[in-house]
Amino acid sequence: MCGIVGYVGNKQASKVIIDGLKRLEYRGYDSAGLATLNGTLELNKGKGKVANLEKLVGDSQHGKIGIGHTRWATHGEPNDINSHPHLSQNGKLALVHNGIIENYNTLKKKLTEQGYEFYSETDTEVIAKLIESFLDKDASSLKKAVQLALHQVTGTYGIALVHSDFPDQIIVARKGSPLLLGIGDGEMLIASDASAVAAYTDKVVYLDDGEIAVITKDDYTVESAEQVELTKEVHELALSLEEIEKGGYDHFMLKEIFEQPKALSDCLRGRINVNEGTVTLGGIESVMEQLVNANRIVIAACGTSWHSGLVGEYLFEYLAKVPVEVEYASEFRYKEQLIGEGDVMIVISQSGETADTLAALREAKERGALVLGVVNVVGSTIARETDAGVYIHAGPEIGVASTKAFTAQVTVLTLMAIRLGLEKGTIDKKHAKKLIKELSLIPSKIEEILKQTDQIQHVSNLFSYAPNFLYLGRSYSFPVALEGALKLKEISYIHAEGYPAAEMKHGPIALIDEMMPVVVIAATHHTNDKMISNIEEVKARKGRIIAITNAGNNEVADLAEFSCTIPETLDVFSPLLSVIPLQLLSYYVAVNRGCNVDQPRNLAKSVTVE
Ligand code: F6R
Repeated sequence: MCGIVGYVGNKQASKVIIDGLKRLEYRGYDSAGLATLNGTLELNKGKGKVANLEKLVGDSQHGKIGIGHTRWATHGEPNDINSHPHLSQNGKLALVHNGIIENYNTLKKKLTEQGYEFYSETDTEVIAKLIESFLDKDASSLKKAVQLALHQVTGTYGIALVHSDFPDQIIVARKGSPLLLGIGDGEMLIASDASAVAAYTDKVVYLDDGEIAVITKDDYTVESAEQVELTKEVHELALSLEEIEKGGYDHFMLKEIFEQPKALSDCLRGRINVNEGTVTLGGIESVMEQLVNANRIVIAACGTSWHSGLVGEYLFEYLAKVPVEVEYASEFRYKEQLIGEGDVMIVISQSGETADTLAALREAKERGALVLGVVNVVGSTIARETDAGVYIHAGPEIGVASTKAFTAQVTVLTLMAIRLGLEKGTIDKKHAKKLIKELSLIPSKIEEILKQTDQIQHVSNLFSYAPNFLYLGRSYSFPVALEGALKLKEISYIHAEGYPAAEMKHGPIALIDEMMPVVVIAATHHTNDKMISNIEEVKARKGRIIAITNAGNNEVADLAEFSCTIPETLDVFSPLLSVIPLQLLSYYVAVNRGCNVDQPRNLAKSVTVE
């Protein structure tokens, strides 16, 4: 949430920063701003997207050092005044912030009493004025003033600031919101995530909570919260520019849907041996004994990642015979905390920065559970704080609606469940071989489904009018129903509900009439008869059936008004296939309705506030 970029070097900072902000725009896009130093402070900011900021800036900012921000509003509506950067009273300091300052009202009151004036409704402006108040007492060190100010602040922050009296340095600090340094040759960058710096350098330093860094064009220093200077590890980025560009697709979402065969192949590479029927997961081998002896597994995640966790529940219980509970990470901390030693928590997160998931992880760790991560973004906070884990290797996901991360997460959970099942002896070699062979075919089966894109687009055209959608599925298809509904509502703003098919009779059936499209995911063989009964029940009430079913399932196809078939597979793998038409359906409905698919209103890709 909120994207921060900074640059110091020999280039025109505004150009580098705007370029970086465009790549971070998926983190928030209701306003944007940019401050550079060129003798004095140069500032442009305003409501709207980065393209708007680019127009505002034009050729007006020539400084070679600066900071920028793209905002997802927390405190104060998205307008010009609330846009970042925020300034000190004397106009010399500019500051950008990602996070929430919880005690901002108390601090604001104190500062107002001291004569500082506030113009915005944000919590951020308080930090700028607070730092200024320390500089007013002792102007010798900007870093010192920042440290003193942050001492008084409670809440979360990733901040970056420049000051015209300290014209060669950017100061950054983090607590709860991600920040990294990009180390260039005679230039340095700072950013909320690596995609903003990848065009300039492949060397990055990830800041940890409590750390503060002073960056100049040739050097950087990092100090801990205890003010001890640290030697930080420099990581090599494995991120190509191609991966973070649209590559000829109209939207990142469509590109990412079509990338799924490759993403899943990358995810499986080197991890399965089809002939031997084995799975190797380097990231969790060292904790296998604890996993085998786990009393239970608790999966914690949010949104789409929570849906993949629900699929994981079916997988672990079936293949490894271990009880699984799937928790909304956001609710986990508000329940009686029964997790402890002997339990395993698996946190699932594409971004690796989701604040609620991180909080659940910390809580479980503190209580002695083993915490494993299933994460996409390498080097993210969740990846670094878990005891062990498995990267999903889906490549950068930039469209706000998650697609390839879902299928790659489910793939990793499948691998983990098979690996654990083999270790525990709950599945034998023969069964494992069958599973692994079929899993290896999933990428090519997704290719087959993608060939039906025109047909799915046609169905989308017919149903784009609908104000409501219902999605129904049983067993492995139930989480897919939830995911299909979420995809549709978040990018097309159509109200959609996903239900276990049998639950329909306990309420939602009242909604069905001739206007209601009902998407039925009839993709698991063992529930087919029951799904057919549900379809009949919908039809009897004139609901319009769109079915996702296995090739050759004519009974379902004949009952449906429209159907999309997926290649034959084992029931356990059906979510990896049945979700694909649902992603395409939501994409084309949103395009037809003129919605901004990659940047849906009110949403942000990385939810770093609770
Ligand atoms: C939906 C979507 C969100 C995320 C959720 C968790 O398409 O993208 O629901 O799944 O915000 O994000 P991560 O996986 O980054 O923790």
